[in-house]
Amino acid sequence: MTAAIKPTLQTNTLDDPKLLQFLQLLTDAFQNAQLVRLVLSKYQGSDPELQRLVIRPVLLKNELQLSFLSQNRTFDQTHNYPLSDALSLLKQQLGQQFFSAHLQTSSHEQQLSFSKKGKVLLSKHPVKSAVATVETAVDLTHNKAKQRYVEQSRPYLQALGITDAKGDIIPAMSKKWKQINKFIEVLAKAIQQTGLTHSQQLHVADFGSGKAYLTFAVFDYLTSTLALAAKVTGVELRQPLVDLCNEAATRLQLSGLQFEQGDVKHFQARGINVMIALHACDIATDYAIEMGIRTGAEIIMCSPCCHKELRPQLQSPAVLSPLLIHGIHLGQEAEMLTDGLRALLLEAHGYDTQVFEFISLEHTSKNKMILAQKCKKAGDNAAVLKQIAELKAFYGIKQHTLETLLANSAVTAG
Ligand SMILES: C[S@@+](CC[C@H](N)C(=O)[O-])C[C@H]1O[C@@H](n2cnc3c(N)ncnc32)[C@H](O)[C@@H]1O
Repeated sequence: MTAAIKPTLQTNTLDDPKLLQFLQLLTDAFQNAQLVRLVLSKYQGSDPELQRLVIRPVLLKNELQLSFLSQNRTFDQTHNYPLSDALSLLKQQLGQQFFSAHLQTSSHEQQLSFSKKGKVLLSKHPVKSAVATVETAVDLTHNKAKQRYVEQSRPYLQALGITDAKGDIIPAMSKKWKQINKFIEVLAKAIQQTGLTHSQQLHVADFGSGKAYLTFAVFDYLTSTLALAAKVTGVELRQPLVDLCNEAATRLQLSGLQFEQGDVKHFQARGINVMIALHACDIATDYAIEMGIRTGAEIIMCSPCCHKELRPQLQSPAVLSPLLIHGIHLGQEAEMLTDGLRALLLEAHGYDTQVFEFISLEHTSKNKMILAQKCKKAGDNAAVLKQIAELKAFYGIKQHTLETLLANSAVTAG
């Protein structure tokens, strides 16, 4: 990480009293076991990959060190340093390569900023100490620095009933909290890999947004953590949920986050960069995927449920009948085929697609994620279409909604 960082802007800030005061605050927090994390952002150095540095205390072989996590466009990298080395590095980088630094301790948050003319600003705000202390304690028990994507102190978590008035996770919501974290982690990587961190304006649509825990989390991550200009639209069938979510967004003054009543099957969307459909029932997932492809979304994320369409159509070889006599196996086969065909159809339409466990069964039974990222180069579509045809023939499938929708939209477009 350090070899790649070279000073580019020559502002004379190395011995600025506010910078030295900030480093002293970091030192004190580290030595008094009060450091939660330090985030360096607004990178203007020469490394085209590097975006942020997230620094946390870490206990390595009984020695307390600082772990530097370089968040790059396509990968993350960690280096650990003793305090003195870390301070030297930070002194070289602050105001030279990174022009903003946010220090979170168990009692305060400090913001250090550098203006274009080299002026240094330092501001301080108190935080809820209970929250920060918990985070520090958790991090220090790991030998490896743990990266967090969602801050437990974010106001929307309280507004949606994930945290209580003290900022603690409400026990009944702990599974949801884990799911939110995992989801944002997956999204964060996809956003980096597709280069969407550089967009001027991001548009995200979340179909079947429900109570919108994940919709709020996405909006907060994009606008607060990544500081992107983002518009996030939740689409939901049930008007009372739409009203509830719009009221919460207004109360929290989240302009750019909105909810609309609508059916994904008829919704007209344009210019979507990220299409999300989590636990949209049965073929609602197919409508959402088709809309994502049609509008040219760079990222399509769905976690399908209720795979009803293919099950009555399945014709399996007789040798499998002792297995498929059990309804659960037939359901699993239908699910594998439905989502496998969805992944192949996405591949055939220019997406790199992965199917993986989204969150373990321990947290929710709806645990599969299809993640598709638009490829820069076209692949061998003919080969993929042949695989789809062969699979359908093998299982006797006559109707797969996503395939039909894509064929119809190609006719309309043509
Ligand atoms: C199981 S909830 C999931 C909520 C949220 N996405 C999550 O994962 O926490 C599914 C939501 O999708 C909504 N829904 C179902 N079919 C829909 C459709 N055709 N169009 C829009 N919303 C739909 C339901 O009303 C419900 O709120």
